Amino acid sequence: MMFTTKCAIQNIRNVAIVGSGLMGSGIAQVSASSGLNVVLSDVKQDSLDKAMKSISKSLTRIAKKQNGSDKEKADYVTLTLSRIKTSTNVSTAVTDADLVIEAAIENIELKRGLFAQIEQSAKKGAILTTNTSSLSLEDIAKGLDDKTRFGGLHFFNPVPVMKLLEVIRSDHTSDETFATLIKYGTAIGKTTVACKDSPGFIVNRLLIPYLFQAIKMYEREDASMTDIDAAMKLGASHPMGPFELADYVGLDTCKFIMDGWSAKYPDNPAFAASPLLDALVAEGKLGRKTKEGFYSYKNTNKQ
Ligand code: 3HC
Repeated sequence: MMFTTKCAIQNIRNVAIVGSGLMGSGIAQVSASSGLNVVLSDVKQDSLDKAMKSISKSLTRIAKKQNGSDKEKADYVTLTLSRIKTSTNVSTAVTDADLVIEAAIENIELKRGLFAQIEQSAKKGAILTTNTSSLSLEDIAKGLDDKTRFGGLHFFNPVPVMKLLEVIRSDHTSDETFATLIKYGTAIGKTTVACKDSPGFIVNRLLIPYLFQAIKMYEREDASMTDIDAAMKLGASHPMGPFELADYVGLDTCKFIMDGWSAKYPDNPAFAASPLLDALVAEGKLGRKTKEGFYSYKNTNKQ
């Protein structure tokens, strides 16, 4: 039997995840399938119901590929789901947590407000983290009383498939907190890499400017979108070309990340905006999630 059921990390048994979108639900899934007790919280019950459905679908997909009888596969899905509780109240959701992972939308004021609430309700000694993809940890943690127990855990989409976890430390993160976060990453089956609190950490610092360079190449009419995508898949062995990947990540997310960096570092040419991307976002063409971005997904089931 290949299913993982136990998380080999003693000081983290209970994890609270704040935000049940694509990332939050993926983090809940990988934590629960490693044996941890999870509380997934969001403001709307609807979002939580949707998240539980997508977790169930993803677990079934994983179970299908494992060795074992049909019953063992069904048990794996049921057992993992049983470890995930949901809550629409963030304060109650974090009360018993040893580790809190915030995966809410990328809005600094919202995140600060959430962390004020979380720090007040979480037990003493709990580690608080953010899955921010581009905001500075220092900025998010501004109002926290104890910044030594705060760090970054940056996951990648789709969370159950992508093997990497970036573990981010700010100048205040204690060695103990950092070591525990690395252990958590290993225990949930991810390969961890460490990075300082810097724009985009490792992956997004390289990936987002690369996506924008591809868009600029297309805007200059150097090559077509499909040829740029084919070139990067066949010439660099990337699983997706840059336009496919931008649609997958979400064009609003790409724009949000770049806008934040261009405002903060206006003289850095690597952080320049793209008029084409801005226009698509203004039209509500955000990629796969809206069925249209650089490409149309109207005739596919891909999400
Ligand atoms: N849950 C469980 N399993 C899943 C899954 C999910 N949500 N999504 C895909 N899979 C599994 C499939 O079952 C399949 O498994 P198998 O090969 O053992 O049968 C495997 O993953 C491949 O899936 P598909 O066959 O459906 O499709 P593809 O082969 O096209 O792969 C992909 C899809 C894994 C998304 C691949 O195209 C890929 O790796 N793309 C790049 C993704 C990437 O770069 N992500 C990072 C984005 S940046 C980010 O997240 C940071 C943020 O801050 C912006």
